[in-house]
Amino acid sequence: MSRPLQRMFTEVPHHYDLINSVITWGLDRRWRKRAAEECLKYKPQKVLDLCCGTGDLAITLCRIGGSGVNVVGIDYSPPMLERARQKASSLAESGCASFIHGDAACLPFPDAFFDSVGISFAFRNLTYKNPLAVKHLTEVRRVLTAGGRYVIVETSQPESGLIRGIFHHYLRWFVRHAGFLLSGNKGAYNYLAESAANFYNAEEIKDMLLKAGFQEVWHLPLFFGAAGIHIAVK
Ligand SMILES: C[S@@+](CC[C@H](N)C(=O)[O-])C[C@H]1O[C@@H](n2cnc3c(N)ncnc32)[C@H](O)[C@@H]1O
Repeated sequence: MSRPLQRMFTEVPHHYDLINSVITWGLDRRWRKRAAEECLKYKPQKVLDLCCGTGDLAITLCRIGGSGVNVVGIDYSPPMLERARQKASSLAESGCASFIHGDAACLPFPDAFFDSVGISFAFRNLTYKNPLAVKHLTEVRRVLTAGGRYVIVETSQPESGLIRGIFHHYLRWFVRHAGFLLSGNKGAYNYLAESAANFYNAEEIKDMLLKAGFQEVWHLPLFFGAAGIHIAVK
């Protein structure tokens, strides 16, 4: 099934990783690393990088987790997966991660298959104005073992009205225009700026995860609340 968002992600910008780095001032790497540490906290054997894109979270999981952890990255964009495989093949831990094509609404894994599921900067895509939002949450819960963790690193809403205003201005001016100039893809960075400016706050995300059946949910704010890590336990 091809959806408008899927078409957008198959036009992967040439400088995709560089643009992420520019618009987050290089903090995206640090935030993924923090999320990877949370995924690996209880020494999981199998970890899923959901909507892995070019594979940065999966690669970080391999680097930190070493040979004891088996990482699977899944994404519905073939060009993103191609880039992820290229990047992972040059790693010392190249055997640690495999990348497969698939849709978050219908994960091709049995129940209780993963000890942790991580997702970096794609939870918004799966939940914001997405008619399949509930299905995306149910699928993650299904493939997690009991007690397994769903670790989400995503843009968020700063609590302070002043900082929130500055953040939204930054998204609508700098991110939108820098993304377009560097990638040539206007639609993708308009979508990023608008969906991030209107995205749910930490309490709304917590409610969503609890309603989906997760037992315990908490949140670690990053960079004055402009981003955050949400941890949900099955
Ligand atoms: C903003 S990118 C984030 C990529 C990567 N996780 C990162 O940290 O840079 C979002 C990714 O989610 C993928 N994606 C969005 N919806 C998806 C779905 N329903 N199933 C599988 N992949 C999906 C897109 O193809 C894209 O690679």
